[in-house]
Amino acid sequence: MNARPNMNANHAETAPAFLSVWDIHAYYGESYIVQGVSLNLHEGEILALLGRNGAGKTSTLRTIARLANPRLTHGEIWLDHKPLHKMAAHQAAGAGIGLVPEDRRIIAGLTVEENLQLAQIAPPVGWSLERLYELFPRLGERRKQEGVTLSGGEQQMLAIARALARDIKVLLLDEPYEGLAPVIVDEIEKTLNIIKEQGITTIIVEQNAVRALNLASRAMILDTGCVVFDGTAREVLDNAELRAEYLAI
Ligand SMILES: Nc1ncnc2c1ncn2[C@@H]1O[C@H](COP(=O)(O)OP(=O)(O)OP(=O)(O)O)[C@@H](O)[C@H]1O
Ligand SMILES: [Mg+2]
Repeated sequence: MNARPNMNANHAETAPAFLSVWDIHAYYGESYIVQGVSLNLHEGEILALLGRNGAGKTSTLRTIARLANPRLTHGEIWLDHKPLHKMAAHQAAGAGIGLVPEDRRIIAGLTVEENLQLAQIAPPVGWSLERLYELFPRLGERRKQEGVTLSGGEQQMLAIARALARDIKVLLLDEPYEGLAPVIVDEIEKTLNIIKEQGITTIIVEQNAVRALNLASRAMILDTGCVVFDGTAREVLDNAELRAEYLAI
């Protein structure tokens, strides 16, 4: 068990990481939020990024996706040898970052299919519509329906499908199960397992820590913008003390 920040990535000795985040610090205005986060993921690995409300999980995802806020002031982010820390959000998206934000951002006035087609406008295109509808049959059945009229679970599926419609290398999921009935969470979890088999490197932020830990192989816990645990998902599942202290489960 390693309950301390581990700046030497677990696998760094064997091969360079596919996604490498090194000592990032970020601010909203004067507020210092991301306070030195480092992580390393190999291609196809899934990381559960956990921690209490306000720990800095969303801010960490936003920083990796290179959104303007929070503002990155220090550190490096490398994706497949590309320096994301030098890029703006649209360039990071072009380099293969797919962020599925908590509020899902379905575009009003567009059907399900148009939401997906919009994501496919700029090459390189990711999954085809056929493949996306195979993954999410509910979206196929509702392809002509306006996206914002979908149920919460269906909108979450559309948000994930839209990310896959681009040629992404890394999927960043911010609370994909939030507000959804367990049966819908089961359905989305099943699709995330299929996506996992496709080898897409993923970071999942979830309040439903047990669900996220079942999907992930790696786990990281944040507290006030700092890494307080970096290890395997199994270690967190097996460590009641750690879960009680930082996850309240
Ligand atoms: N736009 C903003 N301006 C100023 N402070 C912000 C902003 N967004 C978030 N914060 C602050 O940054 C800290 C981390 O927030 P963040 O949203 O990253 O936490 P989180 O771990 O995702 O929490 P939750 O589990 O509630 O989603 C919090 O103290 C929050 O109040
Ligand atoms: Mg959040």
